[in-house]
Amino acid sequence: MSSRFDQNINRKDSDSVKWNRYAEDVLPLWVADMDFLSPSPVIKALCERVQHGIFGYPETQQSTKDAVVDWLWKEHNWSVTSEELVFLPGVVVGFNLAAHALTKPGQGVLVQTPTYRPFLNVSDHAKIEQHEMPLDRTKGGKYFIHKTSFKQAIQENTHIFMLCNPQNPTGRVFSKAELETMAEICLKNNIFICSDEIHSDIVFAPHKHIPIATLSPEVAKHTITLLSPSKTFNIAGLKASYAVITNSELRKRFIAAKQGLVGGVNLFGQAALRAAYTNGKSWLEELLTYLENNRDFLFDFVSTKLDGVSMVSPEGTYLAWLDCRETGLNDPQKHFLANAKVALNPGGWFGKPGEGFVRLNFACPRNTLQEGLDRIAHSL
Ligand SMILES: Cc1ncc(COP(=O)(O)O)c(C=O)c1O
Repeated sequence: MSSRFDQNINRKDSDSVKWNRYAEDVLPLWVADMDFLSPSPVIKALCERVQHGIFGYPETQQSTKDAVVDWLWKEHNWSVTSEELVFLPGVVVGFNLAAHALTKPGQGVLVQTPTYRPFLNVSDHAKIEQHEMPLDRTKGGKYFIHKTSFKQAIQENTHIFMLCNPQNPTGRVFSKAELETMAEICLKNNIFICSDEIHSDIVFAPHKHIPIATLSPEVAKHTITLLSPSKTFNIAGLKASYAVITNSELRKRFIAAKQGLVGGVNLFGQAALRAAYTNGKSWLEELLTYLENNRDFLFDFVSTKLDGVSMVSPEGTYLAWLDCRETGLNDPQKHFLANAKVALNPGGWFGKPGEGFVRLNFACPRNTLQEGLDRIAHSL
């Protein structure tokens, strides 16, 4: 049976970075957005807003806050109040602001590699030290949190920990036990947690996303959580994000760091967020089924047809982390770009432990994924 997500849509004339960065004949399976239409309630809300025709200064609406509060409660069993929300034009903005607000020169930020590259730029921006912890990995290739490694990664001046959960690029959805381990050690060492949970709605059963701030009131007190409907509903270009900060002192510091530099969410972002969170749930359910099928198809293809390439099935996100170290290729991303005409993210972009890997985005119609994989197989 065909799905709405099977539709191939030309994105070339839509200002898309994914579809315009490389030559015409390259299939882009890189940057983390989806080649799917957003839910129709989102498109309708945006059309109605455009039709109004006046685009003056917006104010963050109570209905926008209510939509977030309801979503977090229904989807993640997390009870927050509108006062605890700080609206932002991006999650990357949010974690950089958190570092600016909560640290001073001489202190350090803990990051876990491989990781979404902008985390590795935080220390330069905030003029603090970077304390890097390579994630532990089982023989089978599954990344996990090891208590001893986490403890050892902490230095005397580590002051903030950047958590990415669900994790990009490994696709891990950290378990309660793993989250408790990290939270407990952070609290013991008086380290703030900045938790990027942008991928929290894209999680495959039986895995379940647990916002780290829900572990206990004490953990919440030390945590800034960053969220957005951008990945979930394919509206990243609308820059609608928010922080949840239950500790009013932390929130004050975060808001102070924002003053004069960073605004909130623009009027299109608000319209899209409200529509998505209020009327997007059934679309999301269909999306998750489609993505899960793509993930399983990809896993099967990699296991049976790509010699020297291996992967662990992601628990969340629509990103696959392919280990190409057994292929003998010097630079797999360059090889696939030149010889398969498929654009992927080079593993080294995610930090040193990512070298020899590539990241593949499988949020595209199945025939696009099949085409990309056939090309990759042929190039090997
Ligand atoms: C973990 C993670 N955080 C943040 C972002 C980007 O967020 P934003 O566009 O809201 O800055 C991405 C995008 O891929 C991501 O994967």
